[in-house]
Formats: sequence, structure tokens, C-alpha cells
Amino acid sequence: MSVATGSAVADVFTDRSCADRQRIAPLDVRSSYDGSNVVFRLLRMETWGPALMNLGYYTFRGPLAFLNLVANLEAAQRRLVMEAVDLLEVGRRHRVLDVACGRGKSSFIVHCLFPEATVVGLDLLSNNVQVARTLFDQVDNLSYVSGDALHLDFPDESFDRVLCVEAAFHFPDRGRFLREACRVLRPGGRLIVVDFAWNTDADQKHRDDPETRLVRGVWQWHDLFSVPEYERVAGDSGFEMLSSSDWSHRVTRPIQGLFQFLSTLGNSRWGRRILLWKNPLYRSFSHADWNEVASAVRAHAHFHCYSKYMAFVFEKRCKR
Ligand SMILES: C[S@@+](CC[C@H](N)C(=O)[O-])C[C@H]1O[C@@H](n2cnc3c(N)ncnc32)[C@H](O)[C@@H]1O
Repeated sequence: MSVATGSAVADVFTDRSCADRQRIAPLDVRSSYDGSNVVFRLLRMETWGPALMNLGYYTFRGPLAFLNLVANLEAAQRRLVMEAVDLLEVGRRHRVLDVACGRGKSSFIVHCLFPEATVVGLDLLSNNVQVARTLFDQVDNLSYVSGDALHLDFPDESFDRVLCVEAAFHFPDRGRFLREACRVLRPGGRLIVVDFAWNTDADQKHRDDPETRLVRGVWQWHDLFSVPEYERVAGDSGFEMLSSSDWSHRVTRPIQGLFQFLSTLGNSRWGRRILLWKNPLYRSFSHADWNEVASAVRAHAHFHCYSKYMAFVFEKRCKR
């Protein structure tokens, strides 16, 4: 199993298999998680505990989204994983691969729900895998490995289920990931992908809007599939799409509302006092940081007009 060290991470993203290699700069996945990005710093402060690293699935929506700030945000992140795991339909002795498991909690959740299944969590960043092992690796049937979603180091047909929650946007070649997931799944096996997607093929033209460039920099992605493209490419990779659900109203819209609220507070004197009272760590946010948050919130509002937060269920076609 390959271990993704600093230089290996760079190698992964200059992979020759990526058709656009000449046109695009390598992604720096690490920068989304090392605190150098103000949006992710805010996420770390508000939602990202030591384990889960997703946006969460929220109870309060619409104009009440700001109430999520006082609710348990970690519970929202767990809820997101549970929603995805429900779609996975894990059987008693299934082998489950959790691709891009981050710091391992999603794999641990699958293990808790299905203790007789064998669960493998895989992530590109060896730091994440180290944290996962420290936190969760002491139980049977659950293990963590460093590796790349585009080069899965497992034999053909070695898993019954593959899960990928909120990570495929990082992959420089999503089609390759779908082919790899199909290869390691047994016929009839199931893949769940939770990912951002353009609403339509035509919306892809917004990739180079200045606002979307900012969003791409925050999240470290080159491009997204559109919803129809997901179905097409998954079909070409050997999958049938069983369902696709738009979770934007439960994930991206509430978190956008929450960020808008935080940005409004952070950019006013009284608001900053409230934030400091709530969490003294906000002292580490400067005026420039709050300005940056405000720009990011505006950019994300633009991006959300053309994109969705989707959950796809794919099944590997059986051989004839
Ligand atoms: C937003 S986090 C989501 C983590 C986890 N699924 C969760 O819900 O907490 C995205 C993860 O994708 C991982 N990642 C990015 N590119 C990857 C790749 N090519 N192969 C495997 N993991 C990758 C990152 O290291 C990060 O842990």
C-alpha cells in the first residue's frame, strides 16, 4: 500500500492520466486542511472536531439556518455520514471500502452499525490516516490505509460496498475514480458518492467565473461533473445509477446561511464581541480574515446558483 507523503501528494496531482495536465496547476489538497485557508479555519473552529471533516446535514433550514450555530454541529456531520451509510445498505459480512475517510470517523460509524462487516478506511493524507489509527484502529474488522482514490491498491472484486463522502471534488480525474471503484466492487456491489455537481452540463461554463475561482481555491478542485455527466460517466465505467438526490437544502444552503451569519457578526464590532463570548478562539481572526470570509461567502452564494450537493447511488452491473 502506498503512503502519500508530501512529495507523493504533489505527484498524485500531476498524474499523467489527467487529460488537462498541461492546462491546470496541481491541486494542493493539504492546504484545505492545514489551517492556511480562512474558510476551512472557520469550519475547524465551528464544526470540525478531531474526526469528521464534512459540511454536515442540518436540522434548521432557510432563514433559521443561523440557529445551527447553537445546535450541535458535530451531530450534523454524523448525520451526513449516517444518511450516506443508509444508502449503502451494508449486509452482515460485507467488505466496505470508505474512500477518502479523512480522520476515520465515517469508517468507524460503519463499523459501529455493522460490527460483522469488514471496513477499510483509505485517505490520501498520511496525517489523516495516522489520526484515524490513533482514534479508532483498536477494533477487529476496521483498518486504515494511506492511498489514492485514483489508484486503489486492492484486487478486483474485493469489496461489496464503496463509500465516498464529500471528497470526489478533490480528485483530479473523477472518471478514473469511478472506474477504480467499479473494478474493486463485486458485480451487484454498490457505490455511494456524495459530491458537489453542476446542475446541468451548461453550468460548467461558470467554472472560470472569478467567484467560482475563489471557491475552487478554497476547496481545491479543478472542475465538477454535472448531474447528468455523473450518470453518463458512471454508466461508461460499468455502473447503473439507482438514484440521485439533491441534499443542498440540508447541507450547502444551511451552512451557507450559517457562514453568512458568522460573516455578518465577524465584520461588526458588536458581532465580534458575541463571537468572542461564544468562543474565545475567535481572537485568532483578524479584520482581514473576516473580510476574506465575507468574500468567500459571496463567492459561494454565486457558486450555489449553478451547483448542487448530491448523493448518488450506483450499482455495479452484473456480468452477462
Ligand atoms: C472533506 S474531507 C471528507 C472526509 C470524510 N469523508 C468525512 O466525511 O469526514 C475530504 C478528504 O478527501 C481526501 N482526499 C483528497 N483527495 C484524495 C485522493 N485522491 N484519494 C484519497 N483521499 C483523498 C482528503 O485527504 C480529505 O481527507
